[in-house]
Amino acid sequence: MIEMDTAASTLDGTTVAEPAGHPLDVEKVRGDFPILTRQVHGKPLVYLDTAASAQRPLAVIEATDRFYRMHNANVHRGVHQLGQEATDLYEAARRGLARFINASSEREVIFTRGTTESINLVAQSFLRPRVGPGDEILITHMEHHSNIVPWQILCEQTGASLKVVPINQRGELELDALENMLSESVKLLGVVHISNALGTVNPIEEVVRMAKRYDIPVLIDGAQAMPHLQVDVQALSCDFYCLSGHKMYGPTGIGALWAREEILEDMPPWQGGGEMITKVTFEETTYNELPAKFEAGTPNIAGAVGLGAAVEYLSGLGMGAISAHESRVLETATDKLSAIEGLRIIGTARHKACVISFILGDIHPHDLGTVIDHYGVALRTGHHCAMPVMQFFNVPATARVSFGLYNTLEEVDILIDALEQSRKMFN
Ligand code: ALA
Repeated sequence: MIEMDTAASTLDGTTVAEPAGHPLDVEKVRGDFPILTRQVHGKPLVYLDTAASAQRPLAVIEATDRFYRMHNANVHRGVHQLGQEATDLYEAARRGLARFINASSEREVIFTRGTTESINLVAQSFLRPRVGPGDEILITHMEHHSNIVPWQILCEQTGASLKVVPINQRGELELDALENMLSESVKLLGVVHISNALGTVNPIEEVVRMAKRYDIPVLIDGAQAMPHLQVDVQALSCDFYCLSGHKMYGPTGIGALWAREEILEDMPPWQGGGEMITKVTFEETTYNELPAKFEAGTPNIAGAVGLGAAVEYLSGLGMGAISAHESRVLETATDKLSAIEGLRIIGTARHKACVISFILGDIHPHDLGTVIDHYGVALRTGHHCAMPVMQFFNVPATARVSFGLYNTLEEVDILIDALEQSRKMFN
């Protein structure tokens, strides 16, 4: 993936971090996140729920705040100064994101509410006109509900069938089974890049290569991958990549769909409204060019500006440095968790990132989560919007820790200590 040029200050003056190539200075990074100084139940916050939503650095908070204080206006509409500034900031965020994921053009980046909306857009605009009875949509057993339900809705609408690629007991994709399930009948393959419930990193390049033998379009749910890996959409050779701002240290309610320009050109608009048109009469409407064709209505402008700031922040730190740091934390936490009596890790793939799901004895994960919160430790419990994964491993729910760039090895020790004490308490 290319690294963004972080030298220039932007119109909104967003702070940029150290140049790429340096190891991550975690203590310095933690200073960028105001929320990490607060206490919970009288204990320092140990935030281990980044997979649900990451915390925001000052650069993002300030960019959003500055937008509303200084530049707030609608985009692509007014000729006045504020309208121009807002438009410039909004489009700069799109350009920054396009560079960050190595898109060939910013016309390929559509702002959406997030990964879920991006997948629904592809289902309804790209696939709905192309499928009918006898056609198949392939997904995997480790998908988030966002990459299951839109396809189920589409199957109900069109008569197509949903097929599921199995996983193994480690929580890895069964590539041989995938190979056997590919055929001319498959009209799209949807795969998660990093599983939010298991932490599995899927071999996307290989999966795409397999699908391309049958010319099957591939959609990647990149919600969990964006904050942890260098994503290069051209190198992945996929057709659609979906992402969410709030998983990558940006605001909620903003995300994006990337797709190749020729595919987007060929897709009809999904939602109708302002900005996605060039001319409207009661008889006929003609549609705007990319990316506006897919951005009906006033967009989440401040959200996009905040996402742009998050992209600059990540680029400044360097995704390589972030990945290396998080791998160390993941490895240490995996070793230490494995040593706890009665603890079973759900998801032991050979290639994992940032997530550990587990069960501790017969303690219900919700009870564990509630007790451990009193140690200041925030983790997620439940099905993680991936009920089929829970069904596969025959558990109602798991406790899940997920790491971000600000987590430390000391926090892993606090987690382990809190778990040991909880275990003794429940026993
Ligand atoms: N998908 C989010 C999670 O994994 C909400 O927690």
